[in-house]
Amino acid sequence: MGNVKTIAVLTSGGDAPGMNAAIRAVVRAGIHYGFKVLGIRKGFEGLIHGDIQEMTARTVGDIIHRGGTILQTTRSPLFKTEEGLHKAMSMAKVFGIDAIVVIGGDGSFRGALDLCRLGMNVIGIPGTIDNDIACTDYTIGYDTAMNTVQDAIDKIRDTAYSHERCSVLEVMGRHAGYIAVNVSISGGAEAVVLPERTLDIDVDVIKPIIEGRNRGKKHYLVIVAEGVEGKAIEIAKEITDKTGIEARATILGHIQRGGSPTVHDRVMASMMGAKAVETLRDGNSNRIIAFKDNQVVDLDIEEALKMQKTLPEELIELSKMLSL
Ligand code: F6P
Repeated sequence: MGNVKTIAVLTSGGDAPGMNAAIRAVVRAGIHYGFKVLGIRKGFEGLIHGDIQEMTARTVGDIIHRGGTILQTTRSPLFKTEEGLHKAMSMAKVFGIDAIVVIGGDGSFRGALDLCRLGMNVIGIPGTIDNDIACTDYTIGYDTAMNTVQDAIDKIRDTAYSHERCSVLEVMGRHAGYIAVNVSISGGAEAVVLPERTLDIDVDVIKPIIEGRNRGKKHYLVIVAEGVEGKAIEIAKEITDKTGIEARATILGHIQRGGSPTVHDRVMASMMGAKAVETLRDGNSNRIIAFKDNQVVDLDIEEALKMQKTLPEELIELSKMLSL
């Protein structure tokens, strides 16, 4: 790696609570270690168009408690083209950027890898509510999103009990059931429908609801991970048709992505942001910051992106076992 003096930071992909805490940590740790720090607005799209400004300790004041990302974010189709990528590299030269810290998910890291193959120094910080990045046990935003869902479950439970209904709650995670399986445990769901598993609706959803009713249950909860659009609505209809219990679908949507980050997300984001800068200070780049075995570490970006992650089977089993 060359001599890095100027670091730029951007957020990319879906926003996640805690991204601001990570930006703050990158900027302040950067200043602490003597780097010049720039902020790129609107992810890789902003890099292409030179939407870049210098960050100071004050530009990141009063943001640690705020959801979203002050730098804003995009999923840039232009950046995925050769033309866009080369434009991004030239703009980085214009601003004298020696290294880019990318806060985002898997897709954003692939973008970072493309830049790194053209000679840019990059560091990735995992930020997504889905917790679906293979190389790390934790992604910024996951805890806050799960707590937001839990809050909704507790409210829905009150009214579901009063009306003796079944609530079918669709939670985020297009390809990943981490939020779904965890809140199915914390919310005491009768069933959980995951993108990683094929489902027999009669055995996995209808049967536990009927058995629960016969044991005296007064309300029911089914968690559905987002995936097939309209799935929660279809499942609710099938439950009503087959059991006679009134089932209602609630789609939580983007409410799960907003809100003030939990302490856990703020601390994780702060540790990961500082580690990103320290990795550059130590002369290393093209790394992903990860949380592994209770430690914040840095991993080679190519290796990290080859890793696979599977939903822990024991969590699915635990959810089933305790839903009596
Ligand atoms: O990756 C985060 C996430 O919130 C997923 O859970 C969800 O499938 C997707 O982003 C939704 O993205 P959009 O911002 O396009 O609605």
